[in-house]
Amino acid sequence: MIFGVGIDLVDVERIGKALKKQGPRFITRLAHPEDLKFAPSTATQKAQYWAARFAAKEAFAKALGTGIGKDVSFKEVGVAKQKNGKPDLRYSTRLHTFLKKQKITRTHISITHTETTAAAVVILETGK
Ligand SMILES: CC(C)(COP(=O)(O)OP(=O)(O)OC[C@H]1O[C@@H](n2cnc3c(N)ncnc32)[C@H](O)[C@@H]1OP(=O)(O)O)[C@@H](O)C(=O)NCCC(=O)NCCS
Repeated sequence: MIFGVGIDLVDVERIGKALKKQGPRFITRLAHPEDLKFAPSTATQKAQYWAARFAAKEAFAKALGTGIGKDVSFKEVGVAKQKNGKPDLRYSTRLHTFLKKQKITRTHISITHTETTAAAVVILETGK
């Protein structure tokens, strides 16, 4: 059964500016360890990549219905990549336990980005 669906749209330039202004601090505040595994090194790619991660985290928080805050922090949700490139969500141990309590058994994510905008959609499911 569908528990929730979340969508988010992020301005790549806004993230590019934050990366420029805050440097590594921005990534430290935002990143789950899984996000770091695939992070690119050039400034343009970085802005798109982190904008997409930002969108993924917000879309997840909306699907859960909590928003980003007490129950979900940016760092606790990460995006892994399967061999074929398909993204998958990963969680901190604490958040994993929280999801179990909500009886959430499956999560789905899709990401897209252009030079200017990144977006993500997340669907959470309960049941077998
Ligand atoms: C829900 C949340 C994720 C929305 O974030 P946002 O990016 O500010 O706003 P968006 O335009 O993407 O989304 C707004 C919509 O989210 C939906 N929304 C609001 N609360 C929600 C919740 N608890 N669960 C699901 N959806 C929610 C509403 O439909 C809202 O639209 P409306 O204002 O027309 O009713 C917000 O609670 C949040 O956690 N923001 C964190 C922002 C933050 O910490 N930013 C740091 C910047 S570095």
